[in-house]
Parts: sequence; C-alpha cells; structure tokens
Amino acid sequence: MSDKATLEINGTSYELPLVVGSENEVAIDIKTLRGATGGVITIDPGYKNTGSCESAITFLDGEKGILRYRGYSIEELAEKADFLEVAYLLIFGELPTQEQLDKFHSDIKHHSVVDDDVKKIIEAFPKSAHPMGVLSSLTSALTAFNPSSVDVDSEEEMYNAIVRILGKFPVLVAWTMRKKHGLPLEYGDDSLGYVENVLKMMFKSPNKEYEQNEILVNALDKLLILHADHEQNCSTSTVRITGSSHAGLFVSLAAGISALWGPLHGGANQAVLEMLEAIKEDGGDTKKYMAKAKDKSDPFRLMGFGHRVYKNFDPRAKIIKVAADEVLGDLGVEDPILDIAKGLEKEALEDQYFVDRKLYPNVDFYSGIIYRAMGIPVEMFTVMFALGRLPGWIAQWREMRLRKEPIGRPRQLYTGETYRPFKTINER
Ligand code: SDX
Repeated sequence: MSDKATLEINGTSYELPLVVGSENEVAIDIKTLRGATGGVITIDPGYKNTGSCESAITFLDGEKGILRYRGYSIEELAEKADFLEVAYLLIFGELPTQEQLDKFHSDIKHHSVVDDDVKKIIEAFPKSAHPMGVLSSLTSALTAFNPSSVDVDSEEEMYNAIVRILGKFPVLVAWTMRKKHGLPLEYGDDSLGYVENVLKMMFKSPNKEYEQNEILVNALDKLLILHADHEQNCSTSTVRITGSSHAGLFVSLAAGISALWGPLHGGANQAVLEMLEAIKEDGGDTKKYMAKAKDKSDPFRLMGFGHRVYKNFDPRAKIIKVAADEVLGDLGVEDPILDIAKGLEKEALEDQYFVDRKLYPNVDFYSGIIYRAMGIPVEMFTVMFALGRLPGWIAQWREMRLRKEPIGRPRQLYTGETYRPFKTINER
C-alpha cells in the first residue's frame, strides 16, 4: 500500500503521509495541509471521521465489536481481573504484579480521606441537586484542598495526583448519594478491597453493622471494569482537551464528568431506565416507543441504542446482559423491566430502521437494571459510570501530558457576515 495520500485542489496535487496503527488502521496525517495549500482545512462536525490523537491505551473495532484495554480483551478482563488491576493496566500499560498492585492500593488508601471542609460544600447543595452536578463540583473543589496536585509535570507528581484522586473520588461518590438520602457523610473501611469499600461507604447504615454481599461486590467490580475506558469518546476527549491547556488533573476530570452527564453519552443509563419505566407504565407498549424512535418529527430516541463507533453489538452490552440475568437471579430479584428491555431489544434488532442504521444495544442499555437491583437510585447511575471511567480518563490525560501534546484548538469554517461598516442606532 502507498505511504501517501494524494489530494487535488484546483488542479494542484498535494501529497499527505499515511500513518498506520498497530491494528493496521490507516490515517491521513493532515498536520501540513493548511500550510501547504494556502489555508485549506478539513471540517468534520462531531469528528466522525477525524482522529484527535494517537493512543496506545484502548482499541475498538466497531464493525467487529472488539474492545481491548492495552491489548487485553474486555471479555477476559471482565472475567479474570478486578477493577484495581484494570485501573493499573490502563494507567501504566501493564497488568501489575502482586507487589505493584499492593503498593498501588496502599498509596491510594493513604489518600482516601477528604478534607472535612468538603462536607460544608456538600451541605450547601439542595437534596434535589443531580448527583452528577454535585460530583463535578466536588471534584473541581478538591483542587483547593490538594494544591500539590495542580501543576504536575513529572511522572512522580502525576502519580501522586493520580493516587489522590483514586482515593478520594469514591468518597465523593458515596457522599453524593448519602447526601440525597439524608445519611451522615461517613467513611468505609480501608482494610477492605477497593470496590468493597465503595459499597460500604455508599450503603452503610449509621445504626447497624454493614454486611458485605459478594454478589454486589462482584457485580459492581465487573461493571466498573466494563466502563473503565473507551478511547476518544465525548467525555474522554473533553478530559484530554481540558488537560492540554495544562489545567490540573482534577479540573480536567470535572470537565469530563460534566460531558458524561449528557443523555446522549453517560446520562443514557439513567434515561434508559426512565424510558423502560415509562413503557411499563404504558402497559408494556414497546411498539409505541419504537414508532416514536423512528419518527423524525419526534426528538425521542431509543435510549441505550446506537453508537458512534459500534455498528455491531457493543461487546460490553453482551456481557452486561448476561450479568443482569445472573445478578438478579442471585439476588432473587424479579424485575419486569428486564423482560421489557429484552422485548424491546428483540423488536429493535428485527426492525428495518434499526437494521439499516446498524443500531444495537450499547453499554447503557442493561447496566441500569443491575444498578437498580443493587439498590442504587437511578439518579446515581451516571455517577457509577463516572466511577468506572475514572481510570480511563486518568490514563488518557497522563498519556496526553507525557507525550507533551499541543493545546487542543480546532479551526473552523466561517459562514457568517462578511465585512460591513458600523451602523448608528438611528440607521438600524
Ligand atoms: C455512550 O462514544 C463512546 O464510546 C460512548 C460510550 C463510552 O463508553 O464512552 O460508549 C458511552 O455514550 C454510549 C451511547 C449512549 N447514548 C445513547 O444510548 C443515546 C441514544 N443513542 C443515540 O443518541 C446515538 O446513537 C448516539 C449519540 C449514541 C450516536 O449518535 P451518532 O453516531 O451521532 O449517530 P447519528 O445521531 O448520526 O444517528 C445516525 C442515524 C440517524 O438517523 P438518520 O438521520 O440517518 O435517518 O441513526 C438514528 C439517527 O436518527 N439513530 C437513532 C438512535 N441512534 C441513532 N434513532 C433512534 N434511536 C436511537 N437511539
């Protein structure tokens, strides 16, 4: 294959280098385009055809439904690893030895206390505040209490900021939920595993011993692994471009949390449950919602369906669908919503509109059913997505900074008014 692309503009040919990735994906390197052509740029709303960076962290093949973190398949990681191992793998590039994992966890636990003044910030929020808005604010506020984590340049400084946020973020997640339920903002128990401690902080009752439930621990561990990274999705791209101005790690993550909140992105897991509930209230009338999803005059979309990259099954959705059956069975939970979801999936997969557009269930379609069975309120679903995505955001931010990538600043094509002289108010 040639190592160049040729572009012809007004009779002049320009050669642009082709770059080939480790999975034989091909990109046209347009770094020299504007200079060579006297100002011609490309335009691609939503970046459907445009790569923002080279990355060695996560590989997706949307046509084949493949997802790998640092070369390991999502299926094997979900089955054989735990969330902290996967966090280490994403951030540092290799699965940790036991010694490395123990030190990583110990460093995280060393930083798993949040300044008590953060409680004053939480107390200022109304109980009606959406947890994603609270979490983004608190994550940004952490900067004020951890000034050494702001201007980080060396790998060591980054490591210290990374273990701090991995230690403190689960506390913010738990306190965000406890605030809504009027529960005291307490800690868990650092002698527990990372995910066990998250669950204890979230669900511990102030007046009785907390009993660990292995089914919940395993279910959450798997869900967090499945959400841990997903290459250059909307929120990750937000983290990278925010960090590219050399804004600190915590505020870059806060920006990512805000982007994830949107119902077209991570907010979809909450929207899926609300949609399934509405269908249930409507007597299970899935056909009405399928018709709405296909009606161009109706803004309604079948939440949890479709994906920018996957034009086949989202491999995470396949794993979560099986896990939903297992977890609900293990917990002895009968949830009619699961049957409605399966019915809707079957209908959509047989519907020409969805088949033509290659719309399949994505990661958000079944995850909320498990979260609900675990007793997590629907408004906290996207917060759980953020908890899972945290190591991926960190890994991507660290890769961008270590590679000393330039500040992100896209061009545009101006289509507004050409020059016109000022008009006085009497002339308008
Ligand atoms: C996540 O990018 C990632 O990796 C994200 C994520 C991650 O891990 O970070 O995987 C997590 O965000 C998953 C997606 C969660 N969002 C939803 O479930 C919301 C519902 N889905 C859609 O809004 C949509 O599918 C997107 C946003 C996910 C993708 O949108 P695209 O790629 O911009 O596709 P599009 O809007 O151009 O749609 C193409 C066509 C359109 O119809 P036509 O104009 O061609 O006739 O498909 C239609 C769309 O109207 N379409 C849908 C639909 N999704 C796309 N029609 C009905 N229901 C849907 N869900």
